[in-house]
Formats: sequence, structure tokens, C-alpha cells
Amino acid sequence: MGQTRPIGVFDSGIGGLTVLAALRRRLPNEHFVYFGDTARVPYGIKSTLTVRRYSHQNAVFLRRFNPKLVCVACNTATAAGLDVVTDVVGVPVVGVVEPGSRRAVQDCPDGAIGIIATESTIASRCYYRAIRALRPQAELWEKACPLLVPMVEEGRDCDDPLVLAAVAEYLAPLRQRVGSLVLGCTHYPLLKDALARVMGPGVRLVDSAEEVAGEVARVLENQGALASDGPGTVTCYVSDNPDRFRAIGQRFMGTPLRDVTLVEPEEFFQGGQTGGF
Ligand code: DGL
Repeated sequence: MGQTRPIGVFDSGIGGLTVLAALRRRLPNEHFVYFGDTARVPYGIKSTLTVRRYSHQNAVFLRRFNPKLVCVACNTATAAGLDVVTDVVGVPVVGVVEPGSRRAVQDCPDGAIGIIATESTIASRCYYRAIRALRPQAELWEKACPLLVPMVEEGRDCDDPLVLAAVAEYLAPLRQRVGSLVLGCTHYPLLKDALARVMGPGVRLVDSAEEVAGEVARVLENQGALASDGPGTVTCYVSDNPDRFRAIGQRFMGTPLRDVTLVEPEEFFQGGQTGGF
């Protein structure tokens, strides 16, 4: 049944480690292979076609580990390329948008819902469509927050005046309007305190990571593919700068990342026929 095969996870870089952390908590017996495309991050300001091409190549890379499931931990890649990844890997694929939208609808029984994400994710309107499919009359407010990803990557935290200023400006149109806010980007959970402070008490923050982990567990359980013997492992590959990934990644994961390997571009693209991309 493939219980011992790994779960593949990819993100544009470091941010997907917030999802990996939730997966580890939920599925401690599993082996995870994580690919962070640190050479090409950020995806959130790139065109759909480019993100689809990157997603295709990332999926080809992960396929070599014979994963039993692939989790696209990046919101932007989920929005642009979930179908491409599914075609490449031929095993179940779980993205972050559907589970995040489900959680939003469950957690927010009434009131308007705000969605914050990268420019590409907001432009795709994927959250809008997914939430409206679950609750057709939902009142939704969307806002791209492009400065927040580089601020988190730089190591700025929730007390940083620049972070608070950026958050205040981005959220101004949503404040007083929404009862909940969907964190539609891997990096935003690290700014939860700043977002909560600016939105004020009573506004619920929706983080999809736990719901994604639940979905992965459900899919594997249904297939009889859950690992029964622990402990699981985490093996990371990055397309650039493993030292930086280790240093900053620790903040995202909450634990040290020991096993991080640089993938050379030749190796990364090897076998990566782009199938029209
Ligand atoms: N991982 C991306 C996302 O969740 C954020 C970083 C980027 O723009 O690549 O949308």
C-alpha cells in the first residue's frame, strides 16, 4: 500500500514550512521530502504561465522520490498549477486553497470574509471562487499584500514598525467590514499577532495549515497508505542558498532543519520536459 513511501511537499521557498510543520504535527510517522524553490522565490508577483512552468518542474523533481501524495504548500502555485502537478505525479495532490476555504466557511458562520494573499493569488480569484462554491451568498473582500512576504523573509517580526505600517495600510479597506480574515499566503501565519492587532478583537484569523494536514491525513487513510511505524523524517531540497534556508526555516518550522541539500540547476531540470510550458 506504499505506507513507507514519502509525502512530497513543495513551495516557492521557505514559507511552505508553516504547512510542513502542521503536517509533521498531524502525521509524525510520515517521511516528508520538501522542495523549496529558493532560487526563484517569490512566485507571488509572477505570471500564471511562469508559476505553472515552475510547478511542473517542481513536480517532476518530487516524482523521483516516488511519493504516495504531493502537497502543494504554496498558495500561488496551488492557484496557478495544481492541475499541472496532478498530471505529472499521478498520485493524489492536495493544495492549500480548497482546505483553507473550507476552514473559512466552517469558522465564519456569518459576516463578511476577508482574503489576503500575494498579487498572483488574488488575481486568480481562486479563494473567491472556492468560498463562493461553498457559500454562494458570501460577502468577500480581497486584498493583495505584496510587501509582507519580503518582510517576513527578512526576519522582521510582529513588533516591527514597518510590518505594522504595511499591515495597517493593506488592511484599512477590510477593517470594520469583515468578521474573519483568510491568511492566503504561507508567510502570513508568522505575522498573526500584527494582523490581529490591526484588525482588532473579534476578527477571526483563518490559517489553512491545520486543515491541509487534516486533508492529507484523510486522503492517505482512505487509501490505507498511512505510515504505521515512526518516527518520520524530514528531508529538504532547495534550489539556492541552503544556509539561509536552514537559518530562516527554523523560525517557520519551530525546530532545526538538519537535512537540507542544494539541488544544482542541471539536476533540477534533468528529466523536466516541460510538456508545453
Ligand atoms: N508561498 C507563496 C504563497 O503562499 C508566498 C511566497 C511567494 O510569493 O513565492 O503564495
